[in-house]
Amino acid sequence: MTDVIFLNLILLYIPTIHTIAIGIVYDYTYIGTENQIFFNKTFDECICQMINLNNNSISLMNYFNSNETCQLFNLNNNSLTIESYSNVTMVFLNRTSIIVTIISTHESTSTTTASLKGWTTMKNLNIARNKHTASVLSNGSVLVVGGQNDNAFLNSAELYDPSTNIWSITGNMKTTRCYHTSSLLLTGIVLITGGQNSVASLNSVELFNLSTGNWTTTRNMSITRYYHTASLLQNGKVLVAGGSANSGYVNSAELYDPSINTWSTTGNMNSARFRHTASVLLNGTVLVAGGYNNNAPLYSVELYNPSTGNWTTMANMTVARYSHTASLLQNGKVLVIGGYGNSNSLNSAELYNPSTNSWITTSSMTTARYFHTATVLLDGTILVTGGQSQNNVYLNSAELYDPSTNNWTILSNMSTIRHSHTASLLFDGTILVASGSNGNVSLNTNELY
Ligand SMILES: *[C@@H]1O[C@H](CO)[C@@H](O)[C@H](O)[C@H]1NC(C)=O
Ligand SMILES: *[C@@H]1O[C@H](CO)[C@@H](O)[C@H](O)[C@H]1NC(C)=O
Ligand SMILES: *[C@@H]1O[C@H](CO)[C@@H](O)[C@H](O)[C@H]1NC(C)=O
Ligand SMILES: *[C@@H]1O[C@H](CO)[C@@H](O)[C@H](O)[C@H]1NC(C)=O
Ligand SMILES: *[C@@H]1O[C@H](CO)[C@@H](O)[C@H](O)[C@H]1NC(C)=O
Ligand SMILES: *[C@@H]1O[C@H](CO)[C@@H](O)[C@H](O)[C@H]1NC(C)=O
Ligand SMILES: *[C@@H]1O[C@H](CO)[C@@H](O)[C@H](O)[C@H]1NC(C)=O
Ligand SMILES: *[C@@H]1O[C@H](CO)[C@@H](O)[C@H](O)[C@H]1NC(C)=O
Ligand SMILES: *[C@@H]1O[C@H](CO)[C@@H](O)[C@H](O)[C@H]1NC(C)=O
Ligand SMILES: *[C@@H]1O[C@H](CO)[C@@H](O)[C@H](O)[C@H]1NC(C)=O
Ligand SMILES: *[C@@H]1O[C@H](CO)[C@@H](O)[C@H](O)[C@H]1NC(C)=O
Ligand SMILES: *[C@@H]1O[C@H](CO)[C@@H](O)[C@H](O)[C@H]1NC(C)=O
Repeated sequence: MTDVIFLNLILLYIPTIHTIAIGIVYDYTYIGTENQIFFNKTFDECICQMINLNNNSISLMNYFNSNETCQLFNLNNNSLTIESYSNVTMVFLNRTSIIVTIISTHESTSTTTASLKGWTTMKNLNIARNKHTASVLSNGSVLVVGGQNDNAFLNSAELYDPSTNIWSITGNMKTTRCYHTSSLLLTGIVLITGGQNSVASLNSVELFNLSTGNWTTTRNMSITRYYHTASLLQNGKVLVAGGSANSGYVNSAELYDPSINTWSTTGNMNSARFRHTASVLLNGTVLVAGGYNNNAPLYSVELYNPSTGNWTTMANMTVARYSHTASLLQNGKVLVIGGYGNSNSLNSAELYNPSTNSWITTSSMTTARYFHTATVLLDGTILVTGGQSQNNVYLNSAELYDPSTNNWTILSNMSTIRHSHTASLLFDGTILVASGSNGNVSLNTNELY
């Protein structure tokens, strides 16, 4: 009976229950400082207070049903021991879990554990930025590179260590840039290409070495590019395609070979484009979709074959779009989401089926958006965050697409409006959403889903 009641209460606060475990807890002793007491509050109100107080540490709440009082504790470390009271509901909250323990006697209790799928504020970046890149390195840290803020284009880079929730400044790139690409090579080195700064569109290329934290420049691309794509091929080379050069939008593509630090040209795309997407399919070919050229968004789609270096025109998307996202689903299909169409931002989404070379429209998002992020989570669902909706309308909303039902679920809002931000899937399955712009100023804030 009590278990059912508390499960219902949890559902009020947690969009998705991940695991539920019922167990027994015996005598615990809690050592720590009481942070706050609230009188005459319902259990729900106390939970809200605890979530607000949490600040990414560990929180503990004791709720006294008898006099509707709660005690809130905030801790910085995991060495948590808990004194058990009689007839008290204890709630434990950390970054990923909420545990509700109903203690009816000293000897026997029941515990409900659920994974907390919501937003948690994380430590700030040292430097506010948007239009940066973020790459999850082979050791689990996140490398955030470049971008711009309200005053300047940036060459700085920062490393986030998820185990300590700390951002550290690492070496600066030689060149400031935004609208660049970042690719994690098979060697663990990060390749940064092109982009744009106050001076020009760029052809320069830099490498971040994980073991030293240093940047080195390597050979330039044959032309300058920003708003291009870079795709890591199965053979370890990187295909760079399209973008805007100083001369305008380009259809050219080139290949970086990390083993000899050299660029070589490969087949040109059939269409010049920028603000397109490129997805490496399961068989290693690269699907380029949409983008912008000739004063219009593009329907067109083409496929790069790494073994021939040739591009083949594929079926058009149903909607012409640019600044959309494209996510390779676990079933090998590609989900294209949102973007900007002829005169407005889009809420439509469509699925490419490689085995039939066809696009089908799937359910639309609740909110039209571009400059958003889309991340494939470990369970195969796709998390979409933030972005821009209309002129001067920027978003803090988030939605989740489930490929097994083709449904979108609205999630709780992020704490902050963000566009031109990044979202990185960390090794533990959480998603770090980093900085961006709220439409007025660049942000240094981060939050975790
Ligand atoms: C809590 O409510 C009781 C009964 O309504 C009241 O007597 C008491 O003063 C309240 N306590 C506080 C701290 O507000
Ligand atoms: C949250 O934590 C940060 C650093 O961990 C601290 O600077 C800040 O004051 C805390 N905020 C609150 C409301 O406790
Ligand atoms: C509420 O009840 C608990 C348990 O009986 C007790 O420890 C606590 O002091 C009470 N709080 C107030 C404000 O009466
Ligand atoms: C964690 O907190 C406990 C209780 O306050 C304290 O005894 C312990 O030294 C702390 N451990 C670390 C690693 O800070
Ligand atoms: C705890 O609650 C049970 C059932 O409501 C009651 O019988 C028991 O006396 C309470 N124990 C204490 C220490 O208040
Ligand atoms: C949160 O608590 C759960 C349950 O104790 C634990 O498994 C998990 O590792 C904790 N997460 C963090 C980030 O401390
Ligand atoms: C990963 O490597 C970087 C660069 O060497 C280092 O600064 C960072 O602390 C490492 N992260 C972890 C989690 O070991
Ligand atoms: C590489 O980094 C180390 C440590 O940060 C530094 O001492 C060294 O000078 C750097 N090397 C280059 C070539 O920048
Ligand atoms: C690649 O395209 C070129 C030019 O269209 C063509 O001559 C060549 O045969 C193609 N290669 C393959 C392997 O299809
Ligand atoms: C794609 O759409 C364009 C513009 O509507 C059209 O010219 C072209 O023939 C279409 N291509 C295919 C393969 O359907
Ligand atoms: C890879 O898959 C695409 C889409 O199904 C197909 O058009 C293409 O021929 C395949 N290429 C290779 C090299 O298998
Ligand atoms: C979600 O998908 C299921 C199965 O396709 C369908 O029955 C249900 O109505 C959908 N829900 C919404 C809200 O679209």
